Amino acid sequence: MKIINNLSEAFEFFEAIRLNKVVGFVPTMGALHQGHISLVEQSLKETDLTVVSIFVNPRQFNDKSDFENYPNNQQMDMDMLEKVGCDVIFIPDNKQIYDNYAGYLMNFEGLDSKYEGEFRPGHFQGVVDVVFRLFDIVKPHKAFFGQKDFQQLAIIKKMTAQAGLEIEILSCPIVREKSGLAMSSRNERLTQTQRVNAASIYAEMKIVANSINIGDKTKQWSNHFVKNIEKVEDLKAEYCIFCNPNTLEELDEVLQNSVVVMCVAVWCGKVRLIDNIILEF
Ligand code: PAF
Repeated sequence: MKIINNLSEAFEFFEAIRLNKVVGFVPTMGALHQGHISLVEQSLKETDLTVVSIFVNPRQFNDKSDFENYPNNQQMDMDMLEKVGCDVIFIPDNKQIYDNYAGYLMNFEGLDSKYEGEFRPGHFQGVVDVVFRLFDIVKPHKAFFGQKDFQQLAIIKKMTAQAGLEIEILSCPIVREKSGLAMSSRNERLTQTQRVNAASIYAEMKIVANSINIGDKTKQWSNHFVKNIEKVEDLKAEYCIFCNPNTLEELDEVLQNSVVVMCVAVWCGKVRLIDNIILEF
């Protein structure tokens, strides 16, 4: 497994390798778990050379303490990547990413101001800044993102299309713990009891997913979810919405032959967790 942490080496290596190999890219902020590994596995299946970046991007944290408390397990990350068969790890530092680079100006067409964006101002601009820069350095043919960050995925797809980048953006399914809790680096910050309580998020989402019907008003089901979540100790729902998977437009009613994504954000103590389920009617 090759490790690159020098920018000129990165530009040179990635520029050359893409000429005779299909390059797959998994950008991460480290603190890897099985969810990330499933993206790497998908890339290994679909491409000739898999690159993983590890960079905790300060620009996407609207909360300073969230950034400061972000878990850092670089040795464990590297061991996991070696074991799964990753080909290259790219570990830039802040200067290499942001010196001489102001960011990427995109037209979000409103995608950044709702749901996650409403509660995390500036977050998506920070994500776009770093992903655009990483794409420019790694120049992959395919990039793999988790479905868990549904809004991020929609925004990256839009950015890639707007910038005319020839990169295929692939979405991989959410990987869950045995309890159903969506895997996230933030889960490491939960106590044992909170981890048990946080499993109610997916359990309650599944109840809604199995009960919601064509013709239902979505508000009725978001109220149901929020009410039940808040019966669980330490959990507080921030939002529960139902939206169109492509435009992210919020949907008031479930229509026949439609695909709807139920997206939730829930605080478990001081840890903010997100999850979603794709529903087909
Ligand atoms: O999903 C993440 O881990 C981050 O938002 C990403 C895409 C690596 C950008 O920092």
